[in-house]
Amino acid sequence: MRLLEGQLTTKLLVWSVTLSVLMSPIHCDDKDDDNDDDNDDEEMTVCQEEDNDLRVTCPLQPKPNYHTEFEFSMSKDKREVIIYTNVSGTMPDPSFRHNTYVQELEPYGFKLTMMHFTITENTTFMCKVTKEAKSLFVDVDTLQPCSAISVFLQSYPQLLSLLLPLGIIQTLEAL
Ligand SMILES: *[C@@H]1O[C@H](CO)[C@@H](O)[C@H](O)[C@H]1NC(C)=O
Ligand SMILES: *[C@@H]1O[C@H](CO)[C@@H](O)[C@H](O)[C@H]1NC(C)=O
Repeated sequence: MRLLEGQLTTKLLVWSVTLSVLMSPIHCDDKDDDNDDDNDDEEMTVCQEEDNDLRVTCPLQPKPNYHTEFEFSMSKDKREVIIYTNVSGTMPDPSFRHNTYVQELEPYGFKLTMMHFTITENTTFMCKVTKEAKSLFVDVDTLQPCSAISVFLQSYPQLLSLLLPLGIIQTLEAL
């Protein structure tokens, strides 16, 4: 019985250490969300889906006290071509009017899908949310498939929080 209690205490101890180690980065992320300077930390991503859609993420947080407006564009023949916009008074390029859509990301940001589209030359993608902008140069020869795990976890942070408790359970079972 004493042995059992000992094991239980050890397990609880390991569990709380594991938990606090695992929780701390999440906690920091929550703080970062309130800090506008940290918008610069996260990069845009551009990747090719298996069904040939092109996916572009824009990890920018809308500024408080501003009307949220966003826009995706790309460089083509040294011109800026608007792919998707909800800035009032602007229109996307006609070639992108019916084959693109945008979804909001959690906890913030936007994700553009360009259906059955790929790039045929080095392209710089740009996105704007209220007063901020980001851009990403994409080399036509090294365009990544979206199955790359980092992109996956970046686009679905909620999946990461699902996986973390599983990791804790596995750690416990391994004891
Ligand atoms: C643009 O999208 C944002 C986020 O979905 C929304 O809050 C805003 O009202 C939209 N603006 C316009 C002009 O539709
Ligand atoms: C694309 O950019 C890379 C540098 O990142 C360069 O080496 C390559 O030649 C460029 N390709 C084309 C087709 O311009």
